[in-house]
Amino acid sequence: MLSWVEKYRPRSLKDVAGHEKVKEKLKTWIESYLKGENPKPILLVGPPGCGKTTLAYALANDYGFEVIELNASDKRNSSAIKKVVGHAATSSSIFGKKFLIVLDEVDGISGKEDAGGVSELIKIIKKAKNPIILTANDAYATSIRSLLPYVEIIQLNPVHTNSIYKVLKKIAQKEGLDVDDKTLKMIAQHSAGDLRSAINDLEALALSGDLSYETVQKLPDRKREANIFDALRVILKTTHYGIATTALMNVDETPDVIIEWIAENVPKEYEKAEEVARAFEYLSKADRYLGRVMKRQNYGFWKYATTLMTAGVALSKDEKYRKWTPYSYPKIFRLLTKTKAEREILNKILKKIGEKTHTSSKRARFDLQILEILAKENPYIAADLVDYFEIKEDELKALFGERLSSKLLKILKEKKKKKSEKNKREDKKDKKNEDKKEVKKEIIKKKKEDKKVEEVKGYEISDTEVKKDIKNLETQKQVKKEKEIKEKKKEDKKKENKGKQLTLDAFFK
Ligand SMILES: Nc1ncnc2c1ncn2[C@@H]1O[C@H](COP(=O)(O)OP(=O)(O)O)[C@@H](O)[C@H]1O
Ligand SMILES: [Mg+2]
Repeated sequence: MLSWVEKYRPRSLKDVAGHEKVKEKLKTWIESYLKGENPKPILLVGPPGCGKTTLAYALANDYGFEVIELNASDKRNSSAIKKVVGHAATSSSIFGKKFLIVLDEVDGISGKEDAGGVSELIKIIKKAKNPIILTANDAYATSIRSLLPYVEIIQLNPVHTNSIYKVLKKIAQKEGLDVDDKTLKMIAQHSAGDLRSAINDLEALALSGDLSYETVQKLPDRKREANIFDALRVILKTTHYGIATTALMNVDETPDVIIEWIAENVPKEYEKAEEVARAFEYLSKADRYLGRVMKRQNYGFWKYATTLMTAGVALSKDEKYRKWTPYSYPKIFRLLTKTKAEREILNKILKKIGEKTHTSSKRARFDLQILEILAKENPYIAADLVDYFEIKEDELKALFGERLSSKLLKILKEKKKKKSEKNKREDKKDKKNEDKKEVKKEIIKKKKEDKKVEEVKGYEISDTEVKKDIKNLETQKQVKKEKEIKEKKKEDKKKENKGKQLTLDAFFK
């Protein structure tokens, strides 16, 4: 089933809400192509969900162009771009088809390694005979700066609340929703110019069956979220200490909220288990500092906490991931807004884990997240942990859903069966051994008696013997010392190799 965002995506410029001047510019631009002129490609710049991609497709549709699209989830290495764009841009239309090339979210081209991607784009732009529309959230992203001289930038504004309201109203009517204007206006306001999220909110609320004004009022503020998404992208993508520590500058949220966002999205970005584990280690250290802020009202600790959760997490990866990752809203907040019964289950589980690991139930949430990853990656270890934390069947189901939990339960059952079989075998062995033990005891008793007799005799231990013992001890000490020195050297070397982390740890010593 199509999401409402797709279902109601305008196919024609006349249905695109707002952006009146932009539409006129686009029309003039494409008409000049049709007249045989060769104007610069257009870079549409604007916040997420304001209609950039929609505008490009609607324009193509209105003028009978076929769209060839590349977006940020494609691997943008230069050969791929050359193949797709290069071909389409210069190929003549065999069946009289006209092609419009859409390069979506070009600011997603990241870092130095992709410079080839940008330079290839520039080459293609220079050669292209077909119209090209590029889109970006941020025209001044360093990654695309070199592109700017070759394009005409058109800036889009966030869609006006009033226009958003009208779009929502139309959808509500078509879907036969029972919702009043006040509520629709509130959804529009919350979206801060992002029509995609406004429509998504409407759909989610309609699905939940609760479209009351009270619920809508509690929707998270998208403007704040947008900033958090930007910060997340910086923290999770960079491997640079300085860049990571400034990521939270524009985020208008407290660290205890931000830490949940980071925790939620670390496993989405990082692909190696060690990286995830390291990142969570830093997060839980950060969490401890946050705890001190609360306990002692000492806001100085905030700085440590934020450095750990930004730079610590950033440096936990070996290298940056060149992929597009859809980040998401922390599940934990959703859990907290669930029913009372569900909240109670969660709290019970967190308390159990907290008791076992001797931590607060907040820290236990990170453990729970790791457990969830493990459950998918390595269910055998996860099953052991479930057993250790004494999480019960119904709790497990509430946590992970039917499929994952039944998998874990099956593993647990098998493990228990094997264990009891092993125990039985060992019991049998033990009985046999017991008889042997009796015999042994006898022998030992006898030896002891013999020794006593000897001790009485042996008062005169020779001088040489004492000296020998001392010498023995000393060589032992020496060997141990040498071993220690060797190990320390090894360790130092290891630390050196781990340079990145060492700098960070040193910061907090
Ligand atoms: N100006 C608009 N008028 C009508 N619908 C819009 C508009 N902008 C966005 N939408 C809706 O939001 C969805 C996402 O828009 P999109 O063009 O993909 O945003 P962007 O590319 O700017 O992130 C569209 O599928 C459409 O349903
Ligand atoms: Mg888009």
